[in-house]
Amino acid sequence: MPGPFRHYEGVPVLDLPADLPVPETPALEVLHGVSGATPASDGSTFLSQLLFCSAAISASKRVPSTGYRYALRVNPSSGNLHPTEFHFLTRGLKKWPDGLYHYRPSAHMAEQRALGDLERKPAGSPAPIVFLLTSIAWREAWKYRDRAYRYCLHDMGHAWQALALAARAIGCDSFAVGHFPDDEVAQFWRLHEDEWPMLIVELRGRSVPVREPDACKTVWYGGHANQLSSERTAYTRIEGIHRATKLSNRACSGISAAEPAPTDSGEIKLPPPASSRRAFGEVARMRRSALDFQGGMQSMSLTQLSAILAVTARPLFADFAGARFIQLYLYSHRVDGLQPGVYRFWPEGAGLEQIKSGDQRVAAAGLSLGQEIAGNACVAFSMIGDLERAARAHGDRGYRYVHFEAGAIGHRLYLAAEALGLGATGIGAFYDDEVHRYLNLAPEQGQVVYHFAIGYPVPDPRLET
Ligand SMILES: Cc1cc2nc3c(=O)[nH]c(=O)nc-3n(C[C@H](O)[C@H](O)[C@H](O)COP(=O)(O)O)c2cc1C
Repeated sequence: MPGPFRHYEGVPVLDLPADLPVPETPALEVLHGVSGATPASDGSTFLSQLLFCSAAISASKRVPSTGYRYALRVNPSSGNLHPTEFHFLTRGLKKWPDGLYHYRPSAHMAEQRALGDLERKPAGSPAPIVFLLTSIAWREAWKYRDRAYRYCLHDMGHAWQALALAARAIGCDSFAVGHFPDDEVAQFWRLHEDEWPMLIVELRGRSVPVREPDACKTVWYGGHANQLSSERTAYTRIEGIHRATKLSNRACSGISAAEPAPTDSGEIKLPPPASSRRAFGEVARMRRSALDFQGGMQSMSLTQLSAILAVTARPLFADFAGARFIQLYLYSHRVDGLQPGVYRFWPEGAGLEQIKSGDQRVAAAGLSLGQEIAGNACVAFSMIGDLERAARAHGDRGYRYVHFEAGAIGHRLYLAAEALGLGATGIGAFYDDEVHRYLNLAPEQGQVVYHFAIGYPVPDPRLET
């Protein structure tokens, strides 16, 4: 297993203050686009609050038989392997030097890789804070082999939403850019060759404590990327799909508009959503993946399901998210007022269309690689991605965007479930073709890209804090 933390060694490391107040705005409101207000007097406070609620360590687990303890983070990750790294550029933040940084989650600190006013190329943006999220595919591939590329993309979608929602909760807007020339961006940020740039996220807004930018010249410290493992196996199909989805400077002139997704309203109208006042900061930091769900009699309500589905339909702010590519299919096991069966969710009319009736517990678990969690949940999901439409709009790059969207929806499901007193788990392991057959999906209806489950979690004895 490669080391779980990337460090850029030999550079100045800046402290991010601890024990700050976390955003109090209710999580469900933030998920619905309400901006919070957690005023930060200076740049380090702002960055600390932002990262504490999006990328920091939030708990640990201990394996009872060996005593081995490992960290869990605010953003979830397939196998807890965390291929995603957070880099950021700042310009004109109060009491914080302009420069380029890498976030060190193991110590909640910022590694200063460059100091001064970095020219905003190739992102070309005047935003005071610009994040670059990267993936280290090897961190996933040593365990999941070729399939790891998908998990890296899902994890990226989760990390993006973790960041975007934390930003919203402390009162600023974010916009993600997926369409950029990969090699130029990697060069500009001087990434180690095992890190691939995936998303640029710009933050701006009145809550960002700003001053005039520094006028000094750029000084590069760079730093040495730590070696994550003594050996590395090449996964040529991962390198191939990554190459196929890369953009060059020439191909990057503008992003094309995608055809709109098909619409319907579904014959079952969802009731008004349930509400919750649980604060964003608490929900973001308490979110955990359920180990399993209590498969007994306890059901969730249709208003809870309505609230969970509603947050998936809210706009995502990204250059590739003008038209959406994911359609949600639900396996309803125990939802009061909704018969067991398979349903398709139609976001425009907040309705459900019944596809199959009857008990789906064995099918949902079986399709999810035999994982009982998908059968013990109150509701499980298949996210069906319209890869053809994405490719028509964005070429091969569209493959990434469909998975980013799936991860982003997954993150919204996690937070909504937590806010409503339920638990959730992302499920990347499923039998693709069997899902298509079971749902009677014609090839033009898309391909399954992600599974999910929500219910009442069983206690996890390994969880320590
Ligand atoms: C893309 C993705 C795929 C995942 N797939 C599975 C899965 O197939 N089965 C499972 O039990 N958990 C799965 N998980 C949950 C992770 O194991 C979990 O996020 C990780 O252990 C970290 O725990 P935390 O979410 O509580 O921080 C997945 C999570 C993500 C983000």
